[in-house]
Amino acid sequence: MSNLIIIGAGPGGYKTAIHAAQNGLQVSIFEQQHVGGTCLNVGCIPTKTYVHSATFSEAIERQPQVVEQLRSGVETLLSHPNITLVRERAFFVDGHTVETPSGQRYSADNIIIATGSSTKYIPVEGVNSPCVVDSTGLLALKELPRRLCIIGAGVIGMEFASVFNRFGSEVTVVEFLKECLPAIDSDIAKRLRKLMEKQGIRFNMQCGVKRIVDGTVYFANKKGQEESVEADVVLMATGRKPNTEGLNLEALGITLERNGAIPVDDNFEIINCKSSNGRCFAIGDVNGRQMLAHAAEFQGHHVVNRILGREDHIRFDVMPAAIFTNPEAASVGPSEDQLKEAAIPFECHKAFYRANGKALAMSETEGMVKLCCEPGEGRLLSCHIYGAHAADLVQEVTAYITLGASLQQLRETVHIHPTLSEVLIEVN
Ligand code: FAD
Ligand code: NAI
Repeated sequence: MSNLIIIGAGPGGYKTAIHAAQNGLQVSIFEQQHVGGTCLNVGCIPTKTYVHSATFSEAIERQPQVVEQLRSGVETLLSHPNITLVRERAFFVDGHTVETPSGQRYSADNIIIATGSSTKYIPVEGVNSPCVVDSTGLLALKELPRRLCIIGAGVIGMEFASVFNRFGSEVTVVEFLKECLPAIDSDIAKRLRKLMEKQGIRFNMQCGVKRIVDGTVYFANKKGQEESVEADVVLMATGRKPNTEGLNLEALGITLERNGAIPVDDNFEIINCKSSNGRCFAIGDVNGRQMLAHAAEFQGHHVVNRILGREDHIRFDVMPAAIFTNPEAASVGPSEDQLKEAAIPFECHKAFYRANGKALAMSETEGMVKLCCEPGEGRLLSCHIYGAHAADLVQEVTAYITLGASLQQLRETVHIHPTLSEVLIEVN
């Protein structure tokens, strides 16, 4: 009997296993595919290898090398004496026991479900035709598509639109909503989309896909008229759904949320879980909170601390995120619209990359920073950026927000000259 069973070895599962093992817990971790999960094998790492490759042929050559190197690093970390890696699918027998298809049973006082998510296909005619792929299918292509149609202008859609446009594909995006990237500040999203339009990507906003026939995507435009786009490859980028099938969650008596996520409380413990003498948690994409690799990792860290009876102060309400388009977009904290809706008193301060010396020197003058804070340059609430190295700049503001600092304190912090980070203290 181990102290902890973890199902899934993505960034949620494997990082949690290592943290637990380093703190003396005996861990059994189950993985049905490759260690590293979506993020390392078919998500964050391969896509960012594409972003940092000059051509499509360089990208497809480098991708397996980068993935393999990182995967073997994870395998080494998981060879810790306190960790047993079981390379099989796990499913529940009861609240503290799991079984594998080969008939092995494992029990533990605590169980963490970290099974991740997979592509959610929209229910339209032709969605199963060979030209329709998800992000994993697109990353497996060996030939650059001449015409790529992307359904969905969310994070996956925008990242692939940006990179395949740069590789030379003719990219058309079809999106249901009025603006791209529904999760980020609409001002930033609009400016980024306009810039990507200038780069040659065609956007069809407020358009609902009706059917896909022989590579032609038919959709209703905002006036209700039918239009179509011909493509060699169609990317389905319309969201992801939690992986719960085959886990036999019935044994835990759990009722899934409407979006298929496992319901958890603020400490990621499963709500209303039938567990006789153990505790069950769900971390990462499967709980549907924030589908980000770093969210999964920190949730797992927190759960292990709970199991060990240790207090921590991780701020899950301060979750930075980035979209690796060209240029990047990134944010932390509520958008301007969300602040207005919540009737939180705030003021907004903006600065533009074109006035920043380093941005000019780098020929990266396209970009904007928006900082939201309490009135009178008070406590920082959020930061939204599009422009070169947006993710790194948002990370700096994340530290200030986590520590409860004000805009005045940010302004009074000496910034190296010339750097892009000066744009943060140049806000008006
Ligand atoms: P996963 O990484 O999905 O891992 C779950 C693991 O569980 C899988 O390996 C699976 O095989 C295994 N598993 C499932 N069921 C069982 C079972 N019954 N028994 C045994 N094993 C099982 N996030 C970012 O933060 N930054 C990015 O740049 C980024 N880019 C992305 C790009 C793409 C194309 C995609 C698709 C996602 C991207 N994400 C990114 C999101 C990120 O990949 C996920 O948020 C992250 O992988 C979630 O981690 P997880 O551990 O919850 O699940
Ligand atoms: P998403 O939820 O970000 O975007 C899906 C988009 O598809 C939405 O804009 C939605 O309006 C649109 N859509 C839905 N149905 C449609 C239809 N019928 N016709 C046209 N458009 C339709 O989901 P996405 O992009 O699939 O990403 C899934 C998750 O993966 C995200 O939650 C994100 O957190 C994570 N991810 C994170 C990355 C990062 O951190 N850089 C990179 C890639 C993914």
